[in-house]
Amino acid sequence: MGNVHLIDHPLVQHKLTLMRRKDASTSTFRTLLNELSTLMAYEVTRDMPLQDVEVETPLETMTGKMIDGKKLVFVSILRAGNGILEGMLNVVPGARVGHVGLYRDPETLEAVEYYFKMPQDMQERDIVVVDPMLATGNSAIAAVNRLKKLKPKSIKFVCLLTCPEGIAALQKAHPDVAIYTAAIDRQLNEHGYILPGLGDAGDRIFGTK
Ligand code: URA
Repeated sequence: MGNVHLIDHPLVQHKLTLMRRKDASTSTFRTLLNELSTLMAYEVTRDMPLQDVEVETPLETMTGKMIDGKKLVFVSILRAGNGILEGMLNVVPGARVGHVGLYRDPETLEAVEYYFKMPQDMQERDIVVVDPMLATGNSAIAAVNRLKKLKPKSIKFVCLLTCPEGIAALQKAHPDVAIYTAAIDRQLNEHGYILPGLGDAGDRIFGTK
């Protein structure tokens, strides 16, 4: 599958399996999501440009390399995206943050926008959209449609879990958006949930069910 990065590092796979367990507590689920997102941030930022920076060690001056974190925007699809956001900010604390509020119409499964707030100067920034579940793809497509109007330098999409239907939908609408995921599950059910999946990510992060 073109433009899909499956992050199969053993630590990522181990933590994801623990998160899938139906008896994992809210606090365990949240902690694992935070750790897993931090690990995924390594892969997603792998091709970030580096700048030469002069640095004085205790012994001499040298040229080191640094990223410009402020050029990066993490865009969280509310509310479940915030779980990934926190973990990513652990390793890129200087990144800017945007939020897109979308809910799924339970009948049509279409994404309906209720909130959109981004940093300024988006044309100069690389965007990483975060949402734990790429299921029907409707929210991801709606978010990317909206973000492309701001003409950012690039857009990547990071999720924990997806399925063939979600990948196909997002790739059809936005073939230029690279998808990073820790797993590609079997299928969607008739309610738009991923099987075997991990249930409702928002409910599991926030303990709302
Ligand atoms: N959103 C979720 O939280 N879980 C799914 O399985 C699909 C969409």
